Amino acid sequence: MKGVILAGGRGTRLDPLTRVINKHLLPVYDRPMIYYPVRTLIEAGIDDIVVVTTPEDVGDFRRLLGNGHHLGVRRLHYACQERDGGIADALLHAEEFVGRSRMCVVLGDNIIESSIQHFVDEFEMQRSGARVLLKVVPDPEYFGVAQMDDGSIVEIVEKPQRPASCLAVIGIYFYDKDVFDLCRLVEPGAHGEMEITDVNNMYLRRGDLTHNVIDGWWTDAGTIESLYRANRLVAEGVSELAPILRYCA
Ligand code: G1P
Repeated sequence: MKGVILAGGRGTRLDPLTRVINKHLLPVYDRPMIYYPVRTLIEAGIDDIVVVTTPEDVGDFRRLLGNGHHLGVRRLHYACQERDGGIADALLHAEEFVGRSRMCVVLGDNIIESSIQHFVDEFEMQRSGARVLLKVVPDPEYFGVAQMDDGSIVEIVEKPQRPASCLAVIGIYFYDKDVFDLCRLVEPGAHGEMEITDVNNMYLRRGDLTHNVIDGWWTDAGTIESLYRANRLVAEGVSELAPILRYCA
């Protein structure tokens, strides 16, 4: 399985922090934000990865990540998204690298506490389609939200004013090769962005979307509030582990 990290966009919700620095290079506790999605993939055995970013920022990513070997990446590729076309458009820029392989797509500002290994294994056993991960959150209106019926997803609504559930669709997705054709069918929304939620709903309508509800903490880091939360969760997680790690060393 290949890994795709989407690290483009202009990070406008973090302005002025992102005026000269790509959002995914900002610090989260003791390391740049992009290290976390890299770690998420590596810990699940996915070490053939492409980072999709902007032409202006790709040089910074190359300087930081290089060939990725120091982070456990076996092969690291870079692709550039020329315009702010949204997540589905960004994903299309990974097509040349991913080809017909299955993939795990991680939004570069998503940080998750636990391993995704189990979901990778389940997706490997799935015959086709896509898998999304859900998390119970107190503020679903800021995310894609899964409307449920009898344990199944019936629709995903992007940032609904009146959320039908507290289940946010987190930014870690599993797709088969069909995802690129589906991305091409997405109509740009009001701000010209092609939403990944539309792609997930296409899989849902085909009857080919599965899901897991995750335990452990998860956050994205695209706003001042969530960036602060990410720093706090990582720092607290580290401090909980630190005495044990010292003891083990
Ligand atoms: C994106 C997705 C949204 C998802 C979120 C997770 O939103 O569109 O469905 O819940 O990532 O981080 P964005 O953060 O780009 O607004």
